[in-house]
Amino acid sequence: MAAKCWHQPKQLFDGFQISAFLFSEVLIKMNSVAICATDVIYWQFGKLADYVIKKPMVLGHEGSGVIQKVGCGVTNVKTGDKVAIEPGVPRDTDDYVKAGRYNLSPTIYFCSSPPDDGLMCRFFVHKADYVYKLPDCVSLEEAALAEPLSVGIHACRRGRVKLGCKVFICGAGPIGLCCLLIAKAMGASQILMCDFSCERLEKAKQMGASATIKVEKCPTCPIEFAQKVKTALGCSGAEVTLECTGAEFCVQAGIYATRSGGTVVLVGIGPASVNIPVSNAALRELDIRGVLRYTNTWPMALAMMSTKKVDVKPMITHRFPLEQATEGFETSKRGTGIKVIMQSKRDPQEQQLALV
Ligand SMILES: NC(=O)c1ccc[n+]([C@@H]2O[C@H](COP(=O)([O-])OP(=O)(O)OC[C@H]3O[C@@H](n4cnc5c(N)ncnc54)[C@H](O)[C@@H]3O)[C@@H](O)[C@H]2O)c1
Ligand SMILES: [Zn+2]
Repeated sequence: MAAKCWHQPKQLFDGFQISAFLFSEVLIKMNSVAICATDVIYWQFGKLADYVIKKPMVLGHEGSGVIQKVGCGVTNVKTGDKVAIEPGVPRDTDDYVKAGRYNLSPTIYFCSSPPDDGLMCRFFVHKADYVYKLPDCVSLEEAALAEPLSVGIHACRRGRVKLGCKVFICGAGPIGLCCLLIAKAMGASQILMCDFSCERLEKAKQMGASATIKVEKCPTCPIEFAQKVKTALGCSGAEVTLECTGAEFCVQAGIYATRSGGTVVLVGIGPASVNIPVSNAALRELDIRGVLRYTNTWPMALAMMSTKKVDVKPMITHRFPLEQATEGFETSKRGTGIKVIMQSKRDPQEQQLALV
């Protein structure tokens, strides 16, 4: 029997040789990689939930670059194309992949999820099917944010957000803001957001939230907080709640703030186990749905950006060259701004183009 062929993206640092470049792969010169909250957690603690870093690992899964070389079987992109990179590539054609839910495949390669290396490097080899040529008007920086935008698309699809919906989003970090952009584009009539941070709530307003509520550092009662949400929405509760903090208080308040028959989408990852008002949810027929990243979202994310239905640019608040990774990570850790972009070394002409 032939040996199993595992797709294994490879990071290539300056001067390294490409050892095994397959016919269905592309070599990408990396351009922009946005730092994600999970990258900061791995950098700080070396683990996230059940994922533990056991050997040095390259971080970064929100990236874009320029095709340097293509395998002989590649037809979707060519040398010189600017591309957005989908960081999760299934290794097996298992039942999940066959059902179109490749995000759930237990053997998926996912950049910067241990032990799989990520995108913060000069060159990266990836499966061609998981890179997407950028429309002319989408910059490489914006393309890096197709990843968190994809989480927003998947969350709104899971929540069945539709025309006229009233939506409540907990957390105005990058993921909450991406959910906001997508819920708005899907036709939500009102979107209420909450967070601890006044700065982030201000950003949410600039990006289209109808209203915001600040959460106090030690909030007492999720039922009282949910009542504020209902009053602000002017109805008996949100039809869809997108929980993007992982905090126990927000999961509880999100359930109480959702109207009977509505949907609560758990996007945020917090403690492994939290208390939830389960009979309240059950007896009001709430649908509580999980989210694991995304499937089949990049074409939609790029189309939404190129047609200006969503604008991710306000989320880009800091840029650092890859050589200053520590400064970039410190900035992200402080929670200053929203998205920090690490830029790979490039010539001045490319630099100009990336900033257009
Ligand atoms: N399920 C998935 O596939 C998936 C994918 C990406 C991210 N995530 C998770 O989504 C969450 C959000 O990601 P992010 O990048 O926006 O993170 P982030 O840490 O930048 O943002 C989280 C926001 O929530 C706010 N917050 C935290 N606790 C709160 C509370 N009790 N009340 C009100 N606001 C509170 C913070 O102030 C912050 O603005 C994280 O938990 C992340 O791990 C999940
Ligand atoms: Zn991320």
